[in-house]
Amino acid sequence: MSACILITEPIIQSVIDDLRTDYKVDVGKRGQFNTEQQLVDVIGDYDALLPMLSNPVTKNVIEAGEKLKIIANHAVGYNNIDLEAAQKAGVKVANTPDVLTESSADLAMGLLLSVARKIDSAQAYLRKGQFNGWEPLGFLGMELNRQTLGILGMGRIGTAVARRARAFGMNILYHNRSKVSAKIEQELNATYISPLKKLAQKSDILSLHCPLTDDTRHAIDATILKTLPDHAILINTSRGPVVDETALADALHNGVIGGAGLDVFEKEPDVHPRLLKAPNCVLTPHIASATTHTRKAIGELAANAIRGVLQGKPASEISNLLHL
Ligand code: GLV
Repeated sequence: MSACILITEPIIQSVIDDLRTDYKVDVGKRGQFNTEQQLVDVIGDYDALLPMLSNPVTKNVIEAGEKLKIIANHAVGYNNIDLEAAQKAGVKVANTPDVLTESSADLAMGLLLSVARKIDSAQAYLRKGQFNGWEPLGFLGMELNRQTLGILGMGRIGTAVARRARAFGMNILYHNRSKVSAKIEQELNATYISPLKKLAQKSDILSLHCPLTDDTRHAIDATILKTLPDHAILINTSRGPVVDETALADALHNGVIGGAGLDVFEKEPDVHPRLLKAPNCVLTPHIASATTHTRKAIGELAANAIRGVLQGKPASEISNLLHL
């Protein structure tokens, strides 16, 4: 009998069709597996799970997966998976690095441009019929040329954002668990700054690209927000809980910082009600990797790891397995 795979939500169809040539594949409906219990109830039937970042693959889920051999997350981030429980149960875990780097960096720049140049609010004004002639003092924003971009998390995506920012004439500072190679520092003219508070002090824009871990949860709190210059823009395309959303809403409403562009939220899909009303704030629904090209590549990479594990390939031959 062929192995069974659960894909928790519809993904790019060609990826599903391709897996169906060799395996039995069930595909959940949108949002069908957003709670632990919904996964616990069915996981016992499956050899492989291809979850979304919105699915909590907890210890209970993994323990209920008696036949489970691999969890291949449809995302580069994997904070929705209990890695320790997976390791204990001998279940392999994969993510999707590299393939979403460029699309995610594009979105971070898009948010930055939108906030800095007030594109979103200017459009709303025009659509409301308020544009009644060119205004010398209308919608004055921040020019990116010569501004200092602080990057928290100088991995693949942070580096790709820095490359784009260099093309816009920005100076690059970064904070990371460790320094990046001298070659990358040289290419980007990037300077390592520690601690994070010092980076905040020097950044006109602070863009977050770190994973969510115990160390980064609420890394951007009221103190860091107060440390940023009052014109500063915060961009978050990493994970919502890296920012204390209540503190950010306060900071935006009280003019502690100048604006924010957010693609991720602390309690997705809920958005802090005061953020919805905050000035100079552009909010998107976690779409950083949402291009057809990238989502196909994400699906294929996750499917590849599933194939590899189900076919018994050595872990060293499956490029996107996490080394637990
Ligand atoms: C998206 O947020 C991802 O982690 O791929």
